[in-house]
Amino acid sequence: MKNNYKALKLPEYLETYSKIFSSSKDDKISLFELGIWEGGSLLIWQDYFKNGTIVGLDLNIPDLSTYNTDRIEMFLGSQTDIKVLTVIGEKYKQFDIIIDDCSHISKNTKISFDCLLPYVKSGGVYIIEDWQIDFHDNIRGDGGMTKFIKSLIEEQMWTNILSIYIIPPMVVITKR
Ligand SMILES: C[S@@+](CC[C@H](N)C(=O)[O-])C[C@H]1O[C@@H](n2cnc3c(N)ncnc32)[C@H](O)[C@@H]1O
Repeated sequence: MKNNYKALKLPEYLETYSKIFSSSKDDKISLFELGIWEGGSLLIWQDYFKNGTIVGLDLNIPDLSTYNTDRIEMFLGSQTDIKVLTVIGEKYKQFDIIIDDCSHISKNTKISFDCLLPYVKSGGVYIIEDWQIDFHDNIRGDGGMTKFIKSLIEEQMWTNILSIYIIPPMVVITKR
């Protein structure tokens, strides 16, 4: 996967993503990334998924028009704003891939996950990046992220989660 754009994703993330996504590289996928910073990761996805539609959300976007192309749509808003998430979900209906690279605060992560999992298609993935923040960030690392992931493992038995892979530093949740 190319990484010439200004993005916070490190080469090891891109290597893992290449492994996960290589078989769907040419498909008409739809990908929604929460937390886009300077927008470089959206350009990476647009480049990688040549036939894909890329959607982004961030609290802080200086100029939306810099990102919007015929295959990228950006939304301004918080990952905890159910209204915005629902508008996006209803517009795109079923995403193949959702990536949360946003606040990395466990209660925010859970709000987005609970709201957006219904908008992941069967066999699609919901990925949470940097959950290990619990182990090295004094402010956000309150143990909540690990608890949230553990709760998903427990819930897997009776929810529509097919599998949960923990590939540090990300969790890849596949929908049944
Ligand atoms: C780690 S950066 C994203 C990096 C980007 N995905 C990349 O790979 O280059 C996190 C982003 O999340 C945004 N953010 C933080 N809290 C947020 C929230 N509650 N809702 C929406 N965006 C948020 C920040 O403005 C920042 O741009």
